[in-house]
Amino acid sequence: MTMLRLSKLSKYFGGVVASQDVDIDVPAGQITGLIGPNGAGKTTIVNMITGMLPVTDGTIHIGDTDITHAPAHTISRAGLARTFQNIRLLSEASVIDNVMIGFHRHETSSTIAALLGLPSAARETMDIQQRAMALLQRFDMADLAEYPAGGLSYGHQRKVEMMRALASEPDFILLDEPIAGMNDVESEGLAEIFRGFAADGKGVLLIEHNVRFVAKLCSKVYVLDGGRLISEGTPDHVLNDQAVITAYLGG
Ligand SMILES: Nc1ncnc2c1ncn2[C@@H]1O[C@H](COP(=O)(O)OP(=O)(O)OP(=O)(O)O)[C@@H](O)[C@H]1O
Ligand SMILES: [Mg+2]
Repeated sequence: MTMLRLSKLSKYFGGVVASQDVDIDVPAGQITGLIGPNGAGKTTIVNMITGMLPVTDGTIHIGDTDITHAPAHTISRAGLARTFQNIRLLSEASVIDNVMIGFHRHETSSTIAALLGLPSAARETMDIQQRAMALLQRFDMADLAEYPAGGLSYGHQRKVEMMRALASEPDFILLDEPIAGMNDVESEGLAEIFRGFAADGKGVLLIEHNVRFVAKLCSKVYVLDGGRLISEGTPDHVLNDQAVITAYLGG
């Protein structure tokens, strides 16, 4: 079974140790949790995995492929996608256009073919439009397809980000605080969708401050504090671990 594997992953910003010797396995078909107090180094890990930040030390593999120093577009083609803690959408563009941007990994026609209006490019655009619509339906947002993304509620904007990430049909998806700012009904809807990702065989890394949400969904949870792993195991195990309780309560 394929696995996203971080081995002894470290990141230093000058004297700041954002990540040190972090070992995390994200297996396909499961939701793996990553929690920890503010500034623990969670987003830094995602930035390293996706090639947005150079790794100081350690390795990242997808299956047997070493992606530690691969550029971001190679990593995306290798089957990895993410969402951002700070939502990044084209706010003037429609919901469906924002989702369609995510399909670039699989696009084959050249930009020139598209510019010339060649039938192959037009067919591809139609195909992408249909697949984007299918995603909107799955996320219960089909009626908002033509709405400008910037005018949506926070919860809906997060969903658009997720659809855009899913459009590339990733094998692994990294979710950086996906339910921040959502109400219980919205987050319950997303929990169902995340379970669906795992059931489809995708590997999910879920970063979340809402520990109850993580406990409900994850088979295994890793806990970071000050860039280091301080606990790992089942949700039940880590939430009862004294080291974790101390980290969250501030000692
Ligand atoms: N580009 C950067 N330059 C310098 N320091 C950074 C940079 N990015 C992150 N850091 C530092 O690295 C540490 C980890 O930050 P990170 O954003 O990964 O934490 P986090 O666990 O995601 O926190 P939060 O829960 O608040 O999102 C912090 O001390 C932060 O200030
Ligand atoms: Mg963060």
